[in-house]
Amino acid sequence: MTNFVLPSYKEQSQEVKDRFDRIKERPVMLRVENLTKTFKAKNGPSVALNNVSFQTYRREFTSIIGPSGCGKSTMVRLLAGLESQDSGNIYINDKIITGPGIERGMVFQGYTLFPWLNVVENVMYGLLRKGETKTYAKNKATEWVRLIGLEQFEHSYPSQLSGGMKQRVAIARSLATHPEILLMDEPFGALDAQTRAKMQSYLLQIWKKVNISIVFITHDLDEAIYLSDRIIVLKANPGEIAEIIEVPVSRPRSPDQFLSPEFLATKKRLEELIHPRHEDKDDKLPLVKLTLVGDEVL
Ligand SMILES: Nc1ncnc2c1ncn2[C@@H]1O[C@H](COP(=O)(O)OP(=O)(O)O)[C@@H](O)[C@H]1O
Ligand SMILES: [Mg+2]
Repeated sequence: MTNFVLPSYKEQSQEVKDRFDRIKERPVMLRVENLTKTFKAKNGPSVALNNVSFQTYRREFTSIIGPSGCGKSTMVRLLAGLESQDSGNIYINDKIITGPGIERGMVFQGYTLFPWLNVVENVMYGLLRKGETKTYAKNKATEWVRLIGLEQFEHSYPSQLSGGMKQRVAIARSLATHPEILLMDEPFGALDAQTRAKMQSYLLQIWKKVNISIVFITHDLDEAIYLSDRIIVLKANPGEIAEIIEVPVSRPRSPDQFLSPEFLATKKRLEELIHPRHEDKDDKLPLVKLTLVGDEVL
Protein backbone atom coordinates (compact mmCIF):
# COMPACT_ATOMS: atom_id res chain seq x y z
CA MET A 1 0.00 0.00 0.00
CA THR A 2 1.36 3.40 -0.92
CA ASN A 3 0.72 6.69 0.69
CA PHE A 4 0.91 9.36 -1.95
CA VAL A 5 1.53 12.96 -1.10
CA LEU A 6 1.05 15.23 -4.08
CA PRO A 7 4.16 17.20 -5.03
CA SER A 8 2.35 20.47 -4.50
CA TYR A 9 1.69 19.42 -0.91
CA LYS A 10 5.28 20.39 -0.09
CA GLU A 11 4.43 23.98 -0.85
CA GLN A 12 1.09 23.57 0.78
CA SER A 13 -0.54 26.11 2.97
CA GLN A 14 0.15 25.72 6.65
CA GLU A 15 -3.57 25.06 7.09
CA VAL A 16 -3.37 21.81 5.13
CA LYS A 17 -0.23 20.59 6.90
CA ASP A 18 -1.66 21.40 10.31
CA ARG A 19 -4.93 19.70 9.44
CA PHE A 20 -3.25 16.40 8.59
CA ASP A 21 -1.06 16.61 11.68
CA ARG A 22 -4.18 17.12 13.78
CA ILE A 23 -6.10 14.30 12.07
CA LYS A 24 -3.29 11.81 12.66
CA GLU A 25 -3.11 12.71 16.32
CA ARG A 26 -6.73 11.64 16.79
CA PRO A 27 -7.70 8.10 17.80
CA VAL A 28 -8.06 5.60 14.99
CA MET A 29 -11.77 5.11 14.40
CA LEU A 30 -11.78 2.40 11.78
CA ARG A 31 -9.03 -0.07 11.00
CA VAL A 32 -9.24 -2.49 8.10
CA GLU A 33 -6.64 -5.24 8.09
CA ASN A 34 -5.90 -7.52 5.14
CA LEU A 35 -9.52 -7.70 4.07
CA THR A 36 -10.25 -10.26 1.37
CA LYS A 37 -13.61 -11.15 -0.12
CA THR A 38 -14.25 -13.58 -2.97
CA PHE A 39 -17.55 -14.27 -4.69
CA LYS A 40 -18.44 -17.45 -6.50
CA ALA A 41 -19.09 -16.64 -10.13
CA LYS A 42 -20.10 -18.84 -13.08
CA ASN A 43 -16.57 -18.97 -14.45
CA GLY A 44 -14.75 -19.49 -11.17
CA PRO A 45 -14.23 -17.34 -8.06
CA SER A 46 -14.14 -13.56 -8.46
CA VAL A 47 -11.92 -11.67 -6.01
CA ALA A 48 -13.83 -8.50 -5.11
CA LEU A 49 -11.29 -7.33 -2.51
CA ASN A 50 -7.78 -8.60 -2.05
CA ASN A 51 -5.79 -7.92 1.07
CA VAL A 52 -7.04 -4.38 1.63
CA SER A 53 -5.72 -2.47 4.66
CA PHE A 54 -6.22 1.12 5.74
CA GLN A 55 -7.26 3.16 8.73
CA THR A 56 -9.29 6.30 9.30
CA TYR A 57 -9.25 8.67 12.22
CA ARG A 58 -11.97 10.23 14.31
CA ARG A 59 -13.82 12.99 12.42
CA GLU A 60 -11.93 12.20 9.25
CA PHE A 61 -13.71 12.37 5.90
CA THR A 62 -12.44 9.48 3.79
CA SER A 63 -13.58 8.67 0.30
CA ILE A 64 -13.14 5.38 -1.50
CA ILE A 65 -12.98 5.79 -5.24
CA GLY A 66 -12.32 3.48 -8.14
CA PRO A 67 -13.74 2.13 -11.39
CA SER A 68 -17.00 0.22 -11.49
CA GLY A 69 -16.62 -3.31 -10.15
CA CYS A 70 -13.49 -2.59 -8.07
CA GLY A 71 -15.20 -3.63 -4.83
CA LYS A 72 -16.44 -0.32 -3.39
CA SER A 73 -19.92 -1.56 -2.50
CA THR A 74 -18.47 -4.83 -1.23
CA MET A 75 -16.18 -2.82 1.04
CA VAL A 76 -19.00 -0.69 2.42
CA ARG A 77 -21.22 -3.74 2.99
CA LEU A 78 -18.40 -5.42 4.90
CA LEU A 79 -17.85 -2.26 6.96
CA ALA A 80 -21.58 -2.16 7.68
CA GLY A 81 -21.46 -5.80 8.81
CA LEU A 82 -24.01 -6.81 6.18
CA GLU A 83 -21.63 -9.36 4.67
CA SER A 84 -18.70 -11.29 6.02
CA GLN A 85 -15.19 -11.37 4.67
CA ASP A 86 -13.16 -14.47 3.75
CA SER A 87 -10.21 -13.22 5.77
CA GLY A 88 -8.95 -10.11 7.48
CA ASN A 89 -10.50 -7.99 10.20
CA ILE A 90 -12.39 -4.75 10.64
CA TYR A 91 -11.92 -2.88 13.91
CA ILE A 92 -14.01 0.03 15.13
CA ASN A 93 -12.51 1.76 18.15
CA ASP A 94 -10.11 -1.21 18.37
CA LYS A 95 -12.95 -3.74 18.64
CA ILE A 96 -13.46 -6.36 15.95
CA ILE A 97 -16.86 -6.06 14.31
CA THR A 98 -18.80 -9.17 13.34
CA GLY A 99 -22.14 -7.68 12.24
CA PRO A 100 -24.12 -4.46 12.07
CA GLY A 101 -23.95 -2.07 15.03
CA ILE A 102 -25.47 1.19 16.18
CA GLU A 103 -22.10 2.95 16.01
CA ARG A 104 -22.41 2.76 12.21
CA GLY A 105 -25.01 4.59 10.12
CA MET A 106 -25.58 3.99 6.43
CA VAL A 107 -26.88 5.98 3.48
CA PHE A 108 -27.24 4.24 0.12
CA GLN A 109 -27.78 5.58 -3.37
CA GLY A 110 -31.35 4.35 -3.66
CA TYR A 111 -33.97 6.18 -1.66
CA THR A 112 -34.51 4.01 1.34
CA LEU A 113 -37.09 6.03 3.25
CA PHE A 114 -40.22 4.24 4.37
CA PRO A 115 -42.92 5.50 2.00
CA TRP A 116 -45.68 5.06 4.60
CA LEU A 117 -43.96 7.28 7.17
CA ASN A 118 -43.72 11.06 6.96
CA VAL A 119 -40.41 12.95 7.26
CA VAL A 120 -40.38 13.20 11.06
CA GLU A 121 -41.56 9.60 11.46
CA ASN A 122 -38.79 8.40 9.13
CA VAL A 123 -36.17 10.17 11.25
CA MET A 124 -37.82 8.84 14.44
CA TYR A 125 -37.60 5.25 13.21
CA GLY A 126 -34.01 4.46 14.29
CA LEU A 127 -34.48 6.24 17.61
CA LEU A 128 -37.56 4.15 18.46
CA ARG A 129 -35.71 0.98 17.45
CA LYS A 130 -32.91 2.01 19.75
CA GLY A 131 -35.47 2.03 22.57
CA GLU A 132 -35.94 5.77 22.99
CA THR A 133 -39.35 7.00 24.19
CA LYS A 134 -41.77 8.37 21.63
CA THR A 135 -41.55 11.90 23.08
CA TYR A 136 -37.75 11.90 23.02
CA ALA A 137 -37.67 10.46 19.49
CA LYS A 138 -40.14 13.04 18.23
CA ASN A 139 -38.21 15.96 19.74
CA LYS A 140 -34.88 14.68 18.47
CA ALA A 141 -36.27 13.96 15.00
CA THR A 142 -37.85 17.42 14.81
CA GLU A 143 -34.47 18.94 15.72
CA TRP A 144 -32.80 16.98 12.93
CA VAL A 145 -35.44 17.93 10.39
CA ARG A 146 -34.77 21.56 11.28
CA LEU A 147 -31.02 21.03 10.94
CA ILE A 148 -31.43 19.75 7.40
CA GLY A 149 -33.72 22.67 6.59
CA LEU A 150 -36.88 20.67 5.96
CA GLU A 151 -39.09 21.90 8.80
CA GLN A 152 -41.78 22.91 6.29
CA PHE A 153 -41.88 19.30 5.10
CA GLU A 154 -42.08 17.64 8.53
CA HIS A 155 -45.40 16.01 7.73
CA SER A 156 -44.75 15.31 4.04
CA TYR A 157 -44.38 11.77 2.76
CA PRO A 158 -41.34 10.66 0.70
CA SER A 159 -43.37 10.67 -2.53
CA GLN A 160 -43.93 14.41 -2.04
CA LEU A 161 -40.19 15.17 -1.80
CA SER A 162 -37.50 15.75 -4.43
CA GLY A 163 -34.55 13.33 -4.70
CA GLY A 164 -32.26 15.74 -2.87
CA MET A 165 -34.75 16.21 -0.02
CA LYS A 166 -35.15 12.45 0.34
CA GLN A 167 -31.39 12.02 0.70
CA ARG A 168 -31.29 14.80 3.29
CA VAL A 169 -33.90 12.92 5.30
CA ALA A 170 -31.93 9.67 4.86
CA ILE A 171 -28.82 11.42 6.23
CA ALA A 172 -30.78 12.85 9.17
CA ARG A 173 -32.29 9.43 9.87
CA SER A 174 -28.83 7.86 9.99
CA LEU A 175 -27.33 10.59 12.15
CA ALA A 176 -30.19 10.91 14.63
CA THR A 177 -29.06 7.80 16.51
CA HIS A 178 -25.56 9.29 16.98
CA PRO A 179 -23.43 6.81 15.08
CA GLU A 180 -19.67 7.34 15.18
CA ILE A 181 -19.18 6.42 11.54
CA LEU A 182 -21.40 7.26 8.61
CA LEU A 183 -21.01 4.90 5.65
CA MET A 184 -22.27 6.34 2.38
CA ASP A 185 -22.38 4.33 -0.85
CA GLU A 186 -22.70 6.71 -3.82
CA PRO A 187 -25.44 8.58 -1.95
CA PHE A 188 -25.76 11.34 -4.54
CA GLY A 189 -25.30 9.13 -7.59
CA ALA A 190 -28.94 9.34 -8.68
CA LEU A 191 -29.21 13.13 -8.39
CA ASP A 192 -28.84 15.71 -11.17
CA ALA A 193 -25.61 17.70 -11.22
CA GLN A 194 -27.03 20.82 -9.59
CA THR A 195 -28.77 18.98 -6.75
CA ARG A 196 -25.68 16.86 -6.28
CA ALA A 197 -23.50 19.95 -5.81
CA LYS A 198 -25.97 21.30 -3.23
CA MET A 199 -25.99 17.98 -1.38
CA GLN A 200 -22.20 17.95 -1.20
CA SER A 201 -22.27 21.35 0.41
CA TYR A 202 -25.05 20.28 2.84
CA LEU A 203 -23.05 17.21 3.79
CA LEU A 204 -19.96 19.30 4.59
CA GLN A 205 -22.08 21.64 6.72
CA ILE A 206 -23.66 18.75 8.62
CA TRP A 207 -20.30 17.00 9.08
CA LYS A 208 -18.96 20.20 10.63
CA LYS A 209 -21.74 20.19 13.21
CA VAL A 210 -21.56 16.55 14.33
CA ASN A 211 -18.67 14.52 15.66
CA ILE A 212 -18.54 11.82 13.02
CA SER A 213 -16.14 10.00 10.70
CA ILE A 214 -17.45 9.57 7.18
CA VAL A 215 -16.53 6.84 4.70
CA PHE A 216 -17.92 7.99 1.38
CA ILE A 217 -18.01 5.84 -1.73
CA THR A 218 -18.09 7.57 -5.08
CA HIS A 219 -16.76 7.27 -8.58
CA ASP A 220 -16.90 11.02 -9.14
CA LEU A 221 -13.42 12.54 -8.91
CA ASP A 222 -14.56 16.12 -8.19
CA GLU A 223 -16.91 14.90 -5.47
CA ALA A 224 -14.16 12.89 -3.78
CA ILE A 225 -11.71 15.81 -3.79
CA TYR A 226 -14.26 18.42 -2.75
CA LEU A 227 -15.42 16.41 0.27
CA SER A 228 -12.46 14.40 1.54
CA ASP A 229 -9.47 14.63 3.79
CA ARG A 230 -8.03 11.48 2.25
CA ILE A 231 -9.01 9.47 -0.80
CA ILE A 232 -8.44 5.72 -0.98
CA VAL A 233 -8.08 4.75 -4.63
CA LEU A 234 -9.03 1.16 -5.44
CA LYS A 235 -8.21 -0.66 -8.63
CA ALA A 236 -10.25 -3.50 -10.08
CA ASN A 237 -9.67 -7.22 -10.63
CA PRO A 238 -8.78 -7.90 -7.93
CA GLY A 239 -9.90 -4.92 -5.82
CA GLU A 240 -6.74 -3.60 -4.21
CA ILE A 241 -5.55 -0.24 -2.93
CA ALA A 242 -3.74 1.62 -5.69
CA GLU A 243 -2.94 4.67 -3.59
CA ILE A 244 -4.08 6.75 -0.64
CA ILE A 245 -4.09 10.48 -1.36
CA GLU A 246 -4.02 13.26 1.19
CA VAL A 247 -6.11 15.98 -0.42
CA PRO A 248 -4.03 19.18 -0.34
CA VAL A 249 -7.03 21.49 -0.70
CA SER A 250 -7.61 23.75 2.29
CA ARG A 251 -10.80 23.84 4.36
CA PRO A 252 -13.40 25.25 4.54
CA ARG A 253 -14.06 24.06 1.01
CA SER A 254 -15.92 26.08 -1.56
CA PRO A 255 -16.76 25.47 -5.23
CA ASP A 256 -14.22 28.20 -6.18
CA GLN A 257 -11.49 25.72 -5.30
CA PHE A 258 -12.46 23.40 -8.18
CA LEU A 259 -10.03 25.32 -10.39
CA SER A 260 -7.24 25.77 -7.84
CA PRO A 261 -3.82 24.24 -8.70
CA GLU A 262 -4.09 21.82 -5.73
CA PHE A 263 -7.52 20.63 -6.79
CA LEU A 264 -6.45 20.15 -10.41
CA ALA A 265 -3.24 18.35 -9.42
CA THR A 266 -5.25 15.95 -7.26
CA LYS A 267 -7.71 15.37 -10.08
CA LYS A 268 -4.90 14.70 -12.55
CA ARG A 269 -3.39 12.13 -10.21
CA LEU A 270 -6.76 10.42 -9.72
CA GLU A 271 -7.30 10.35 -13.48
CA GLU A 272 -3.90 8.75 -14.01
CA LEU A 273 -4.80 6.07 -11.48
CA ILE A 274 -8.37 5.43 -12.51
CA HIS A 275 -8.35 6.02 -16.25
CA PRO A 276 -4.76 5.34 -17.35
CA ARG A 277 -4.18 6.70 -20.85
CA HIS A 278 -2.85 3.84 -22.84
CA GLU A 279 -3.71 2.65 -26.31
CA ASP A 280 -6.43 0.15 -25.73
CA LYS A 281 -7.57 -1.52 -28.88
CA ASP A 282 -10.93 -2.32 -27.27
CA ASP A 283 -11.66 1.43 -27.05
CA LYS A 284 -11.48 1.87 -30.82
CA LEU A 285 -14.32 1.25 -33.19
CA PRO A 286 -13.40 -0.85 -36.22
CA LEU A 287 -12.42 1.29 -39.21
CA VAL A 288 -15.25 0.65 -41.61
CA LYS A 289 -16.59 3.00 -44.22
CA LEU A 290 -20.08 4.14 -43.40
CA THR A 291 -22.25 4.77 -46.40
CA LEU A 292 -25.21 6.94 -45.62
CA VAL A 293 -28.22 7.84 -47.71
CA GLY A 294 -27.04 9.86 -50.72
CA ASP A 295 -23.65 8.14 -50.66
CA GLU A 296 -22.31 10.67 -48.23
CA VAL A 297 -19.34 9.13 -46.50
CA LEU A 298 -18.38 10.18 -43.00
N1 LIG B 1 -23.34 -10.79 -4.39
C1 LIG B 1 -22.41 -10.96 -5.35
N2 LIG B 1 -22.26 -12.14 -6.01
C2 LIG B 1 -21.32 -12.31 -6.93
N3 LIG B 1 -20.43 -11.36 -7.29
C3 LIG B 1 -20.53 -10.17 -6.69
C4 LIG B 1 -21.51 -9.89 -5.69
N4 LIG B 1 -21.35 -8.60 -5.25
C5 LIG B 1 -20.31 -8.11 -5.96
N5 LIG B 1 -19.81 -9.04 -6.81
C6 LIG B 1 -18.65 -8.85 -7.70
O1 LIG B 1 -17.60 -8.28 -6.97
C7 LIG B 1 -16.95 -7.25 -7.72
C8 LIG B 1 -17.05 -5.95 -6.98
O2 LIG B 1 -18.40 -5.49 -6.96
P1 LIG B 1 -18.87 -4.16 -6.22
O3 LIG B 1 -18.34 -4.20 -4.84
O4 LIG B 1 -20.33 -4.04 -6.39
O5 LIG B 1 -18.10 -3.03 -7.05
P2 LIG B 1 -18.33 -1.45 -7.15
O6 LIG B 1 -19.27 -1.04 -6.09
O7 LIG B 1 -16.95 -0.87 -7.01
O8 LIG B 1 -18.86 -1.19 -8.53
C9 LIG B 1 -17.62 -7.24 -9.10
O9 LIG B 1 -16.84 -8.03 -9.96
C10 LIG B 1 -18.96 -7.86 -8.83
O10 LIG B 1 -19.43 -8.51 -9.97
MG1 LIG C 1 -21.11 0.01 -6.07
